[in-house]
Amino acid sequence: MTVPVVLIAAVGRNGAIGLRDGLPWRLPSDLRQFKAETVGKPVVMGRKTFASLGRPLPGRHLVVVSRDPAPALPEGVAGATSVEGALALAQRIAAERGAAEVMVAGGAEIYRAAMPLADALRITEVDLEPAADSFFPAVEPAVWRELSREMGERGERDEAGFAVVRYGRR
Ligand SMILES: NC(=O)c1ccc[n+]([C@@H]2O[C@H](COP(=O)([O-])OP(=O)(O)OC[C@H]3O[C@@H](n4cnc5c(N)ncnc54)[C@H](OP(=O)(O)O)[C@@H]3O)[C@@H](O)[C@H]2O)c1
Repeated sequence: MTVPVVLIAAVGRNGAIGLRDGLPWRLPSDLRQFKAETVGKPVVMGRKTFASLGRPLPGRHLVVVSRDPAPALPEGVAGATSVEGALALAQRIAAERGAAEVMVAGGAEIYRAAMPLADALRITEVDLEPAADSFFPAVEPAVWRELSREMGERGERDEAGFAVVRYGRR
C-alpha cells in the first residue's frame, strides 16, 4: 500500500520560490498553513532547504535528501541519498504511523526530481513577482488538472495576497 505523494510549495507569479537560500517574501499565513498541512506526516526536503530551516519541524518526520551518505543531521531526522530513496522511506514511515500523505517540501532541485513521481500538487500562488534564484517547475496542463482554488485570507503581516490551488494528475 502506498500513500499519495504531494508536492507543497509557495510559488510567485514568475515561478519564484527562493532567494539566497531563503523565501523571497514574508507570508506568515502560509507558514501556518504549511504547518497544518504537514503535521503528522513524513516530509521530504533537500539538504539546502533543511539548512535554511536550521532545525527539525516539530510533529513531522523529516527525510532530508543529500548526496552525502553521512550528513550531520539532528536526532530524529532521517537521511536519504536519492529522491526515490527518500520517498520510499517516507512511504514506510507513513505506513507505520498511519499518515495519509507523504509531503515533499522543496526546494527547487527536489521539486524537479519528485514532480514526475508525485500524485498531487498543493500550491500557494503568491501574488508577487519577486527577485529569485530558485523556481518551481512548470505545472504542465497536459499532466496536471486544477481540482480546487481558494482565495487565501491575507493577514496584516502578509506581504501579499495568495490563493491555494490543488492539482491532481489527469
Ligand atoms: N517557496 C517554497 O515553497 C519553498 C519551499 C522549499 C524551499 N524553498 C527555497 O528553495 C531554495 C532551496 O532550493 P535548492 O534547489 O537550492 O535546494 P534544495 O532542493 O533544498 O536542496 C538541494 C540539495 O539536495 C540534495 N539533492 C538534490 N537532488 C538530489 C538527488 N537527486 N539525490 C541526492 N541528493 C540530492 C543535494 O544535497 P547535498 O549538496 O548535500 O548533496 C543538493 O545540494 C531556498 O531558497 C528555499 O528557501 C522554497
